[in-house]
Amino acid sequence: MRLGFAAVLVLNLVVSQAFAADKPVEKVAIAPEKAEQSVAASAASPIEQTVQTVCAACHAADGNSVMAANPKLAGQHPEYLLKQLKEFKDGKRANAVMSGMVANLAEEDMKALAAYFSSQKPTLGKAKSNGKGSLGEKIYRGGILATNVPACAACHGATGSGIPKQFPRLAGQHADYTLQQLRTFRTGERANAPMMQAIAVKMTDQEMQAVADYVQGLR
Ligand code: HEC
Ligand code: HEC
Repeated sequence: MRLGFAAVLVLNLVVSQAFAADKPVEKVAIAPEKAEQSVAASAASPIEQTVQTVCAACHAADGNSVMAANPKLAGQHPEYLLKQLKEFKDGKRANAVMSGMVANLAEEDMKALAAYFSSQKPTLGKAKSNGKGSLGEKIYRGGILATNVPACAACHGATGSGIPKQFPRLAGQHADYTLQQLRTFRTGERANAPMMQAIAVKMTDQEMQAVADYVQGLR
């Protein structure tokens, strides 16, 4: 599954010559000028190829990114992932890196990518300092009374696995990424979620850091 594009192409040429009879009908009856393209598209599905040649560099092929600035996608609800991909494309969620990634994707591709990543198994994480009894836990479970911040658990679930279809999974997500999202909700740079913007404007940096750390270890 980790073959590079060129290796897939070569493998395909070999496989397609040996097993031409097993190929789907439309891929056997190809015009000569389209032959190379169709052959290349047949071993891994086109979506798996996109995952391996594009998304994997930052999100890992199994959706459990290693770098803390790149969100884990594994196990995330497909409806949420699809919403984000569409909104990166139409600019409702502004992000220079991701808007470039989705520019040439059709809605069908986005649906397939969302389904692929949501079916991957999410890895768990650990909080650095916000475990049981911490400020992070208090905010997650009970909100912040003085400033009217609601409990995160009300919408993201007691275990952080979210509530399909609207409320994303947070459990195990990199704290750096979660903190960055809370900050961009607060500034309005991420303007695709009015509910989260209304909450983030009432939070201090310290509170955001605590809850982001807690969420990383949530399970
Ligand atoms: C160069 C690195 C890079 C590549 C390649 C990349 N991404 Fe991303 N992706 C990011 C970063 C960084 C973010 C966080 C953006 C932000 O802060 O708003 C992100 C965010 C996302 C999100 C939103 C996740 C969430 O929890 O809201 C989705 C969905 C996503 N990427 C899917 C993809 C898919 C599908 C591909 C392949 C077509 C891809 N990405 C390729 C870096 C990358
Ligand atoms: C009233 C419901 C509600 C509450 C309470 C709530 N959230 Fe959210 N949250 C949402 C919704 C809806 C989204 C999805 C936004 C979207 O569709 O783009 C979201 C998205 C997020 C995201 C972005 C996830 C990602 O992968 O990019 C983070 C981080 C987040 N919430 C953290 C929190 C924290 C921390 C709290 C508690 C302080 C909290 N939320 C409380 C509704 C809520």
